[in-house]
Order: sequence, then C-alpha cells, then structure tokens
Amino acid sequence: MTGPNTGPITGPITGPNRPPGARRASLPCVKIGVLGATGPAGQAVAVQFAGVGHEVLVGSRAIERAEETVNALRERWPNRDLRLVPADNATAAIADLVVVATPWDGIISTVAALQEQLAGKVVVTMANALTRWGKEMVPLLPPTGSVTVAVARALPGARVVGAFHHLPAGPWSDLDHALDADVMVCSDDRQAAAEVIALIDALPGLRGVDSGGLSSALAIEALTAALLEVNRHYKVHAAIRVTGLPDREQVPGPGG
Ligand SMILES: NC(=O)c1ccc[n+]([C@@H]2O[C@H](COP(=O)([O-])OP(=O)(O)OC[C@H]3O[C@@H](n4cnc5c(N)ncnc54)[C@H](OP(=O)(O)O)[C@@H]3O)[C@@H](O)[C@H]2O)c1
Repeated sequence: MTGPNTGPITGPITGPNRPPGARRASLPCVKIGVLGATGPAGQAVAVQFAGVGHEVLVGSRAIERAEETVNALRERWPNRDLRLVPADNATAAIADLVVVATPWDGIISTVAALQEQLAGKVVVTMANALTRWGKEMVPLLPPTGSVTVAVARALPGARVVGAFHHLPAGPWSDLDHALDADVMVCSDDRQAAAEVIALIDALPGLRGVDSGGLSSALAIEALTAALLEVNRHYKVHAAIRVTGLPDREQVPGPGG
C-alpha cells in the first residue's frame, strides 16, 4: 500500500477477492470532513479514508468528543500514520468533500445549519431511516421518499450523493481486514457520483457501483433493513456484491 501523507495515491491497493470489474484509481489525496464521526459509522468512514492517505476532519457537535474519538482511533492503530483531525461539525464541513454520518432524524437539522459551508460541495449521506418493530428492523418512508432526497432538498446548492448505506460499521472499521463489498452510489449529479465512486474504488476491498439518480435512494436505504435481518438470521455482518458488471474500462463516463 502506498504510504500515507505522500501525495497522490498511486495504487494498486489490494483488497480481498477484488472483482474483475474493479480497479484502483490514481487519485490525489483530498480533505474529507465527516459530520457525526464519533459514531461507529463515521469512525469507519474516517479511518478508511485516512488509511489510504486522505486527511480527515473528524466532526462532532462537541469538539471534546471528536478529540476522544481521534485519540481512541490512534490508540487502536498505533502503527498507522492516520491524518485524523478533531473538529466541530462546522469546521469539518469546510473540507473538500463531506460525509454526513449522523442518525437520519438529526441529519436535516445538521446539514441545514451548514448550508453555507456545504454549498457547491459533494456531500455524501449514508443515513438509513429505520426503526425497530418487535425484533425486526424495518424501513421508514420519509415524506421525500428517502433521507438522501431530503438532504438534497435541504442543500439545494450542494452536490448530494448517497453511498455507504449497506456497509456494517464494525467490520468496516477494521483496517487490518478489508471488507469485501460493493457500495451502491446514487446522485442526480453524475459527475459527483463519478467522483465518489473513484474515491470508493481506492478503498481496500470496496467497489463503487453507479446506481443511478436520487430516485434510487429509496430502494437503497430500504434494502438496509433487509440486510440487518440477514445479519440477525445468520449472525453475521453481511454486505452486498453486484454481479454481471462490465470492466470499469468499458463503462461510459459521467457524460456518456
Ligand atoms: N452503524 C452502521 O453500521 C451503519 C452502516 C451504514 C450506514 N449507517 C448510517 O450512518 C449513520 C450513523 O450511524 P451510527 O450508527 O454511527 O449512528 P450513531 O452512533 O447513532 O450517531 C453518530 C453520531 O451522530 C451524532 N448525533 C447523534 N444524534 C444526533 C442528532 N440528533 N443531530 C446531530 N448529530 C447527532 C453523534 O455525534 P456527536 O454527539 O459527537 O455529535 C453520534 O456519535 C446513520 O444514519 C446510519 O443509518 C450506519
């Protein structure tokens, strides 16, 4: 693996069972902000991006919690040079690309307060609107059809992308054992979707799959509930793979 802090990621970065359609892009390191990065999902996003050399602003509503999280992640990975910087959410939103990792019922108030910082940026939402019904996790239907569309409505000036909804945070946060999974990516901004897919393709074990526009978010988010039922039934941390995709080289670009 290319060492962190050394400028461009030159790849290849190997992951387990890399599917033939996937390739490792040569990407510049970018500054990534994660809002709500003190939770398991945000921590996984933060360490994975930091693990391939990006600088990550670890955001929280309280800087003390962000500091505790960064300290804990550094203690967990003492031999990795992870560029993790504690920040409040407003500071994390200043990054080049921002991932929102708060619960669905706090996401709109979180991003709406940061409209100015997020204008013009790629903003990735991974939130799933779910609730417990007896023993089951079931999907809720937001009035907009999905959380991703609600975020896009709340941020008309941003380039909103849905991604990472299906990745189980626990195993995904383990830098020593890459998760073997596809990441369904949706956005009405085709260029933004392509940029996020390129970032995902550079993460160990993952492949970004263009899943269309924001109207796909409803199905993507709801599928998470079914995956959680798979987990409950088989006592695993399931993730998904999409089969039958062409090689990346044969896939038309965002304009094609
Ligand atoms: N956990 C998973 O395996 C997983 C996988 C894929 C997607 N997701 C999605 O990722 C998101 C985060 O999941 P999680 O399990 O990490 O959630 P979480 O632990 O419940 O929350 C993450 C962080 O969000 C902040 N937060 C909590 N309530 C908030 C509110 N009302 N407004 C603003 N910020 C709030 C908290 O950080 P501070 O108190 O430090 O601000 C908290 O540590 C969810 O939307 C979930 O659906 C989760």
